[in-house]
Amino acid sequence: MLNKPAPTSGDRPFLQVEGLAKSYPGTSGPVFDEVNFTINRGEFVCIIGHSGCGKTTILNALAGLESASAGHIFMDGREVAGPSLERGVVFQGHALMPWLTVRKNIAFAVRSKWPDWTNAQVDTHVQKYVDLVGLSAAIDKKPAALSGGMKQRVGIARAFAIEPKMLLLDEPFGALDALTRGTIQDELLAIVRETHQTVFMITHDVDEAVLLADKILLMSNGPQARVAEIVRNTMPRDRQRATVHHDPQYYPLRNHLVDFLVARSKDLSHGRAPAHPPIVEPGRGALADTPPTVTLKAVA
Ligand SMILES: Nc1ncnc2c1ncn2[C@@H]1O[C@H](COP(=O)(O)OP(=O)(O)OP(=O)(O)O)[C@@H](O)[C@H]1O
Ligand SMILES: [Mg+2]
Repeated sequence: MLNKPAPTSGDRPFLQVEGLAKSYPGTSGPVFDEVNFTINRGEFVCIIGHSGCGKTTILNALAGLESASAGHIFMDGREVAGPSLERGVVFQGHALMPWLTVRKNIAFAVRSKWPDWTNAQVDTHVQKYVDLVGLSAAIDKKPAALSGGMKQRVGIARAFAIEPKMLLLDEPFGALDALTRGTIQDELLAIVRETHQTVFMITHDVDEAVLLADKILLMSNGPQARVAEIVRNTMPRDRQRATVHHDPQYYPLRNHLVDFLVARSKDLSHGRAPAHPPIVEPGRGALADTPPTVTLKAVA
């Protein structure tokens, strides 16, 4: 990526992605191109799209772990140019160090962020986040002695413990059974609400997106995948998993996402999605200030 001056206006969104593209040598076209979206401070954003459209690649670019072929990412007024402890990542696998206990896995990250802290300071901080994800009893166990759900919680605690400006989650609940998934979703939601954390999360689960996200980015299929549409979640922010399906907005929203994945994402491959995605509120139609290029299908 070429260097570009950071946007200076005070009204800029917290995260701004401009014209992001990724191509691999020897392949016919870009995996994705013209990916444009923004995230406000404290917003919880989910991205949904078919396997292979480039979601993990985008997340890695946001993390500064992978460079894009074109485009720019600005976070908090500065261009993302490499990895930073300002961004906490929970990877698609657990990515824990198997030879270290839960306590030491998290302490390793905490020490990287605050190298001047004493051992006692680090340990108090680690315990706080282990408590938060309900793993106090397992704090001195190694990953091999934990269930899949417990390992996921360690990954989440580690990412939260460095108190990042932005949390990047790559299908953090992908490998969990429905019951555990629900419990950890509730925990994550409670922590995010308490800390006003900004989150970018990849999920394949429509219900998860509807419950957790303020805004859902719908990604078309590749090649030349794009963020085709931005769906605003119009339900109250204090929605609960047990009752959310009673909200009149729930089914229009859910159906809209399913409809996109089943039908529209394929039609919008090969760069047929707009470069600047419209913002929509399913059941209410496209917002007035969005480009008129996409006609929404009727939703139930
Ligand atoms: N080194 C590479 N060379 C060529 N193509 C690659 C390479 N690495 C990744 N790709 C391609 O990039 C595309 C995007 O991969 P990515 O992992 O970002 O997808 P994803 O949307 O996260 O998929 P999933 O939902 O399965 O996790 C895939 O189609 C993949 O085949
Ligand atoms: Mg992926």
